[in-house]
Amino acid sequence: MSWKVTVLVALMLGASVVIGRELGPETATWDSTRAAGWVAYLLLWAAVFSGVGVDLRFHPGVGRQQVVLELHRMSGTLGIAFVLAHGLALTLDRYVAFDPWDIVVPLTSDYRPVPVALGVVALWLTAAILVSTWVSARIPRTAWRSIHLLAYPAYVLALLHGLLAGSDTEHWPTHVIYSLTAGAILGAAFLRSVARDWVAAARGRAGSQSPAR
Ligand code: HEM
Repeated sequence: MSWKVTVLVALMLGASVVIGRELGPETATWDSTRAAGWVAYLLLWAAVFSGVGVDLRFHPGVGRQQVVLELHRMSGTLGIAFVLAHGLALTLDRYVAFDPWDIVVPLTSDYRPVPVALGVVALWLTAAILVSTWVSARIPRTAWRSIHLLAYPAYVLALLHGLLAGSDTEHWPTHVIYSLTAGAILGAAFLRSVARDWVAAARGRAGSQSPAR
């Protein structure tokens, strides 16, 4: 199901970029690239953050693990659609002139090659995670899990890519967003790796205090 959502949303975003290019202002494709990059980054962040919540079976106040799991699935699914739109808008832009292979092969673009390459690798890692999830019933669970852990390097690469390639990095709100999101992931990773027992105990206490359903 989720790959159909990715394809559908990517097609709709692609169509709106094409319409913007033909009917909108000269900067429509460039603005689309930057906007889609931001949405992709935030969705990827949400996918990693909620993924830690799923792993820790931590779901404060929302009653059911299912909600966190659904947030995790949808943010990952939509995230890759926005990454595709981010790349497509670059190939349609009349000024930076990205070739299609610049989007998928690291270090081929003339525009900020190394920072852009970090985004290309993040794209491949994210794609590997999603494809392995779509075929998870047909591959060993250990393989699926190892691939899934690539979400951490993918997030770090996307963060560095946004920081180093983005035009918005010169504005202070950008620093606030990157700091808050990266800080939240660091905190979640700490809970997941070092403080699992503490989380389990907190979960147990919350469970024993909640009214019986
Ligand atoms: C997981 C994958 C990716 C994520 C989350 C992501 C996210 C972002 C973000 C947040 C920005 C900053 C926008 C701004 O400050 O204006 C950005 C900029 C940029 N990205 Fe990506 N990106 C990804 C993959 C890619 C790929 C595959 C390419 C293809 C070549 C690419 C090319 C660019 C370029 C050229 C910029 C600079 C735009 C500017 O100067 O403002 N990105 N990206």
